[in-house]
Amino acid sequence: MTPPPNTRPLIIAIDGPSASGKGTLAKRLADHFGLPHLDTGLLYRAVGWLAERTGKAPAEIAASLQSSDIDNPELKTDDAGQAGSKVAAIPEVRANLLKFQKDFAYRRSGAVLDGRDIGTVICPDAPVKLFVTATLESRAERRYRELRERGADTIKTRVLAEMAERDRRDSERAAAPLKAAPDAYLLDTSDMDADAAFAAALAFMARKGFRTAGR
Ligand code: DC
Repeated sequence: MTPPPNTRPLIIAIDGPSASGKGTLAKRLADHFGLPHLDTGLLYRAVGWLAERTGKAPAEIAASLQSSDIDNPELKTDDAGQAGSKVAAIPEVRANLLKFQKDFAYRRSGAVLDGRDIGTVICPDAPVKLFVTATLESRAERRYRELRERGADTIKTRVLAEMAERDRRDSERAAAPLKAAPDAYLLDTSDMDADAAFAAALAFMARKGFRTAGR
């Protein structure tokens, strides 16, 4: 039976480890439903990147982070990812980035946010939560291919080792570790391409009553 249309503001909370496909999925869902999208990993990357360059305390940087700080192409590099993962373990950094993320999420239009703690900490009451994951090997393979396409000189074993290290740091930290919310829909993309992941997410959302753009 088709569920009735859902009328709650549509917040789509997407969490998962790096290279699981959550960013691509978040962008596609945001386009489909006409919602603003925030890649929250960029906030941590920006704090880590600025901390390394300015010597300022990460918590202080987080407290005064501007939207323009996340518009930096260098934040896409793996070095920035590692820097972001390190500062993400500092509770004051997380606390100082909370308001920015909540303000983004709880606007009237709804929003799509992707990260590590969106369904558990930032938007625990989001009507749609997705936990996007894939095996370490398939994520490392994806990341390796992406880096090669961008012309980066790297080796697969190094990509895998760095990803394993980041997984461990993000999952084992005491402050808001990466974990699925109990009510999240688990999407394993190990054997899925971006189209299949998008279709699976849309089917899940339709079952919850969120069907079309603008609902
Ligand atoms: O998603 P990403 O790879 O761009 O994130 C970079 C780092 O930031 C990641 O290793 C962990 C951290 N992060 C976090 O702790 N919480 C979030 N909501 C998003 C990212």
